[in-house]
Amino acid sequence: MKRFLDLADFSREQVLDLLALAQSLKDHPQPQALAGKILGLVFFNPSLRTLSSFQAGMARLGGSSFVISPGQGTWQLETRLKAVMNGAAAEHIREGIPVLASYCDALGVRAFAEGKNLEADLGESLFGMIDGLCDKPLVNLESAVNHPCQALADWRTLDELGVPRRGKFVLSWAYHPRPLPLAVPAATVHMAAMRGMEVVVLRPEGFALPERIMEKARRAAAESGGSVSETTDRASAMAGAQVLYAKEWGTTDYYGDVEADARLRASLGEWCVRERWFAGAAADAKLMHCLPVRRNVAIADEALDGPRAVVRREAYNRMVVQMAVLHRMLA
Ligand code: CP
Repeated sequence: MKRFLDLADFSREQVLDLLALAQSLKDHPQPQALAGKILGLVFFNPSLRTLSSFQAGMARLGGSSFVISPGQGTWQLETRLKAVMNGAAAEHIREGIPVLASYCDALGVRAFAEGKNLEADLGESLFGMIDGLCDKPLVNLESAVNHPCQALADWRTLDELGVPRRGKFVLSWAYHPRPLPLAVPAATVHMAAMRGMEVVVLRPEGFALPERIMEKARRAAAESGGSVSETTDRASAMAGAQVLYAKEWGTTDYYGDVEADARLRASLGEWCVRERWFAGAAADAKLMHCLPVRRNVAIADEALDGPRAVVRREAYNRMVVQMAVLHRMLA
């Protein structure tokens, strides 16, 4: 495997194979499998889980890693093509990425959406450039509209919990004071569809996911035998649901317009997940979130601390599945 950029690049069988490898590495640790291998990690944006789980996973396989956070102890990196670099950035990714790749055996990069131009972000223009500059195996640590490591970990979590393949999976918008990127909702709706689930996107008016993201999920569902729909009606969405996956994201009707987004979300504070949301759901319905999460803003304490919440298991599974990705790339 030379690239891990999008679950859609793999067949369902290949994903299941990767998940089986993750389980095998958990049951039968291979502490020397990646001895002598080096993973470079570049974070243009902050992280708690992705950074630490990749470093820990690499170390558990006998390899090592280095971390670069551009502009924090290293040169700030310019990402715009044809930029006149008379500002803060002293180096361009056109030099920076190949140089970093030359020091390591695989590179992971986190580069969020710019959040200004929906078409550019949907087209993964920045990550596409990084992909073209990296001649080593490359892992997407979260790009403009994708987070495949999170999606793979969440698939494993669903399997571990015995959530039926055909179960009802509700991806619900949750409140946040600012517009957050589309990467996790886009990766999540696709993952659940690819797993074969009955996927319902629950969101307020103005916060529909872009058609391109929904269409990609519908294609995955058509292949897996699942389905994808959307609604603004919480009661119908939650009826019989086995999973509520909460996530915050920005308006796509006014993408990049922070003031319009703020006006739209001003009255949506009640989209903070509470136990009562599960009234019509399956008795053992689970609550998922990729973290980080703002308590009592996106999810209330009562739900996050209750028996339905599996957020820490999801976070732990990040390391488990990423070890399988690294093993496939480098062993
Ligand atoms: N879920 C996730 O990617 O967490 P971090 O942003 O902390 O890496």
